[in-house]
Amino acid sequence: MAPGLRFPPAFALLHLAVTLLAVLPRHVVPDLAGDRDALLALRAAVGNHLKWDQSVSPCQGWQGVSCSPSPNQRVVELRLVAKSLSGQIPVGTVGNLTALQTLSLRFNAISGPIPADIGGCTQLRWLYLKGNRFEGDIPESFFSLALLKKTDLSENRLTGGVSSEFNKLRNLATLNLEGNNLNGALPSGLDLPKLTQFNVSYNGQIDGPVPASLPGLPASAFLGTALCGGPLAACPNSDSEAHKSRKLTLGVIVGIIIAALVVLIIILSICVLIFSRRRRAAAGRSTEAAADVHEGTEPITVTVAMTGRDAVKRSHSPPGSPLIGDGKKLVFLGSAPERPYDLETMLRASAEVLGKGVHGTTYRATLDGGEPVLAIKRLRDVHLPEREFRDRVVALGALRHDNLPGLRAYFYSKEEKLLVFDFVGAGSLSSLLHGSSFDHTHLSFAFFRPRVHGRHV
Ligand SMILES: *[C@@H]1O[C@H](CO)[C@@H](O)[C@H](O)[C@H]1NC(C)=O
Ligand SMILES: *[C@@H]1O[C@H](CO)[C@@H](O)[C@H](O)[C@H]1NC(C)=O
Repeated sequence: MAPGLRFPPAFALLHLAVTLLAVLPRHVVPDLAGDRDALLALRAAVGNHLKWDQSVSPCQGWQGVSCSPSPNQRVVELRLVAKSLSGQIPVGTVGNLTALQTLSLRFNAISGPIPADIGGCTQLRWLYLKGNRFEGDIPESFFSLALLKKTDLSENRLTGGVSSEFNKLRNLATLNLEGNNLNGALPSGLDLPKLTQFNVSYNGQIDGPVPASLPGLPASAFLGTALCGGPLAACPNSDSEAHKSRKLTLGVIVGIIIAALVVLIIILSICVLIFSRRRRAAAGRSTEAAADVHEGTEPITVTVAMTGRDAVKRSHSPPGSPLIGDGKKLVFLGSAPERPYDLETMLRASAEVLGKGVHGTTYRATLDGGEPVLAIKRLRDVHLPEREFRDRVVALGALRHDNLPGLRAYFYSKEEKLLVFDFVGAGSLSSLLHGSSFDHTHLSFAFFRPRVHGRHV
């Protein structure tokens, strides 16, 4: 057992107290001596040139230092404005000035972060760090400085966002953050009931809307930022709204495209319908025309030959053929010839002029192979509508007369009208077709002159 047990109890207690005092750190209870050490450490870090007389108390004339009154004197103010301070403020210096109410280090060249133990200055009310080179985030402990009234951190190089933890500083009336590199949105619920001055100007990366909880601030509080709303220009649609409107726009575009397609399909359908109807109608008309021909010309049948090779084949097609009414055609009266020919064949045939008459020129044409031999009358100045022309040709074809060669076919187009006869001996044909006698018989080609006042001219 320890010999101390033999001491009387009172002596033992005293011994314990003395021992405790000896082992406890000197600054467990903060005092002016601790403030002094903190100040000297600060000076060593950022302002060796400061002339602080260490032979006296900091409260006795150290430049920029103010103390609370005796007996429990503490350093309550440190103002070192524009004192060419430079370097970083270490922890355990300013943070040890636990009675400090005012810290002003404006317009120096202090760099590095705001000391992480700034929260140790629990009595701090006025904090001015403007115009230095403080960098990095505002330290977490800063937001425990619940008594802060004015905070000016402007014109530094602070980064990070404007934390909603500012809301912990319920007494804050002035918050100057302008001229830093802060970024992001201002907390939408920023709620500082005593705030009268607020400035985040010239933090180019601060964006988003001005919180509605910061009413009545001038636009000059938000210069040089990407903020919007409030005193500034209205915000574009918020993200979700923008997304919605983009979606809407896309929807509208898709709608327009679909509508356009539907309209196009409808138009195409209508076109197809109209086209097919017209074709049907045309086919109907052709049939009608063919029927007409049939009706009016019995017992004569009419066969049509188109120009071209295919047309020769078609010339065999029955009168109902839709080819009737088409452009160039050779219309046969009666049965088609044994060796069918068409206009082209006819025009290619070797021909000689038989004679010229008042109503046109007559040719003798020998088709390829020598058979048949035709007489072709090319009518001049005959201006009859096709239907009437046809009627008259049919009427003429129906006539049987010894002196009249058989009328085999005719051709009608706007420019050209041809009558095709069997060739019956040069003499008679010549006299018949272009001789004066022919012209003045009742079989005259005056037949083909237009009717005037209902009679033949
Ligand atoms: C600041 O306070 C801490 C803890 O009380 C102490 O350890 C440190 O030495 C103090 N700093 C100075 C410079 O005295
Ligand atoms: C905010 O700070 C900028 C830059 O210093 C200044 O121009 C502006 O007037 C200030 N606005 C307010 C409301 O303090």
